[in-house]
Amino acid sequence: MLFSSAWWFCGKVIAEPKQLFGLAFKMLEGKNVNLRVVEKEDLPLVAEWLNKLDFFGEYNPLMQMSKADLQKMYDNLSPDERWFFIEKKDGSKVGNIGHRPVGKAQEIGYAVLLSERKKGYCSEAVMIMVDYLFLSKDIVRVQAHTDVRNEGSQKVLGKAGFKKEGVVRKDAFLWGEWRDGCLYSILREEWKEPKILIKTHS
Ligand SMILES: CC(C)(COP(=O)(O)OP(=O)(O)OC[C@H]1O[C@@H](n2cnc3c(N)ncnc32)[C@H](O)[C@@H]1OP(=O)(O)O)[C@@H](O)C(=O)NCCC(=O)NCCS
Repeated sequence: MLFSSAWWFCGKVIAEPKQLFGLAFKMLEGKNVNLRVVEKEDLPLVAEWLNKLDFFGEYNPLMQMSKADLQKMYDNLSPDERWFFIEKKDGSKVGNIGHRPVGKAQEIGYAVLLSERKKGYCSEAVMIMVDYLFLSKDIVRVQAHTDVRNEGSQKVLGKAGFKKEGVVRKDAFLWGEWRDGCLYSILREEWKEPKILIKTHS
């Protein structure tokens, strides 16, 4: 069901966000991709992706996870933490994106299937997520960490309006060594208004 009150169009908010996001929904709709909440029955696919070496790639921790580990993580997600699939308009899943609270901010993370990269999907997914987080939560910043060498991820963040705050020394243990990362953020006053989120579906 589409919530008729839940519309943004041409960058204008036509619905009161608090009213809108008090309702349950499963899909955030953008122009070329949608974000769909990961359900319990989707976990086998998530496990398959997580265990693919080329999915998270060389700039993320090496992670092998059993279905039981993943189920436990999923069951322990806080109300302020969600995983979404990035879906094309035909419903095919091309990646995932998630958010979690860090202090009083929200932090995002994302990955796109190797065969679907460099088509603009992640940039749009990040913009939808930023719209959603600022519309639904009383937060002043959204942030992301990325390896200093991860040019693709830094371009995605730049396109979505994030600014580089600085280098975080020995930020993550990646593939046998401690690597420096970059911290990026976008503040509510820099975001100003929804850029891409069009509507939500239950
Ligand atoms: C980083 C990642 C998510 C980017 O996804 P994507 O869907 O390819 O990103 P987009 O298509 O929106 O690309 C945005 C821009 O970055 C560029 N770009 C993407 N990957 C790039 C790369 N590896 N090197 C240089 N530029 C790259 C694109 O060409 C595009 O530039 P343009 O707007 O000038 O054309 C994807 O490469 C990925 O999943 N990597 C492995 C997981 C990962 O590193 N996640 C981030 C953890 S912080």
